[in-house]
Amino acid sequence: MQKFFKAEQVSANVWWVGAVDWNVRNFHGYLTGRGSTYNAYLIIDDKVTLVDTVKAPFAEEMLARIRSVIDPGKIDYIISNHAEPDHSGALPAAVAAIKPEKIFTSVAGAKTLNAYYGDLGFTPVKTGDAVELGQGRCAFVDTKMLHWPDSMVTFYDRDKVLFSQDAFGMHLAGSFLWADQYEERILEEEVEKYFANILNLYSEKVIALLDSLPGLDLGFQIIAPDHGPLWRKDLDKIVSLYRKCAEQKPRPRAAVVYCTMWGSTKICAEAFADGVRSKGVEVETADLMVNERSSIMSKVARSGLIAFGAPTMNNQVYPAMADVMNYVKGLRIKNKLAFAFGSCGWSGEGARQIAALFDELKLEQPLPFKQVKYMPQSSDLEEFFKAGAALAEQLLEKTKDN
Ligand code: FEO
Repeated sequence: MQKFFKAEQVSANVWWVGAVDWNVRNFHGYLTGRGSTYNAYLIIDDKVTLVDTVKAPFAEEMLARIRSVIDPGKIDYIISNHAEPDHSGALPAAVAAIKPEKIFTSVAGAKTLNAYYGDLGFTPVKTGDAVELGQGRCAFVDTKMLHWPDSMVTFYDRDKVLFSQDAFGMHLAGSFLWADQYEERILEEEVEKYFANILNLYSEKVIALLDSLPGLDLGFQIIAPDHGPLWRKDLDKIVSLYRKCAEQKPRPRAAVVYCTMWGSTKICAEAFADGVRSKGVEVETADLMVNERSSIMSKVARSGLIAFGAPTMNNQVYPAMADVMNYVKGLRIKNKLAFAFGSCGWSGEGARQIAALFDELKLEQPLPFKQVKYMPQSSDLEEFFKAGAALAEQLLEKTKDN
């Protein structure tokens, strides 16, 4: 069934022809409470060019938006900045409709796309390469591991648009094309969540890319990512937000994350959090029974002090905590004060395994892990309160210049 959608104009010669996914709530395990967009772009130049595509189920939406501007058969080139299927899933449908003269992608992109879709006739490009479109040109810059080995960005010099694929993106579905049409608080929240859950482990590469942008002398006036709104004003706002996330400087906030079997770890968590609060530090507590890992990662990323607590089950840390430990380890959190705690009956691996993870991540643990047997006594809870207060004071000292 043919769908009806229209393109939106980005600049004199560039159109947005992507898709709005209002209802996606689980993006490979990342809960996307506000949905997302898969942005694709059409450049109308002597050589008409499609930059990126969309997730496979949205192919017809993209093609409908393209048809509102031009017959897809008149497109000459496709550029694939990123091979992950949320941007390449509709590539086979696009190729069938367009029959492009060339498909440009990075060297790694050609291999990855070939593995997903077979040989569609890819032309590999690298940093320094450019393709002439007639009135303007598209220059390519490799951004390996931002987000996958194949990732690259493309700069269209005629309209000064940087097509940045996952970089500078966020998961946010909405009615507006431009970031300046959204509330700043929503943008900041979604950028921080996106960075924490997608790019945190590549923070050093993000900083290197941000440092190199002025040297590339692109002079872009529009940032057009593959997810969420585009940026035409205050470009330094999104660039600074990305830098802030990538630097992972400790902030004067705390996150107490716990799971519990019979309530013991929970009351230890509450006493610790109350101690933090007593020093005027903002603290959030999160029970893993009702908080999933991507929202935990957001809380952890924005906190200079983290406390993880869990019971022991079957001689292992409780499974819900093991899942979160695995997740934050992969995302390589750093620069935090950390505290491990828990409760156990006999063997007591829970808090020990959490403390070992914090060691592995080189997080500072000013206090040794604390674990109670069966049920905390009031003297234990007093100690948890004092531990929270002491670590909050250290955090305030550590972050006073941030
Ligand atoms: Fe939006 Fe790495 O894909």
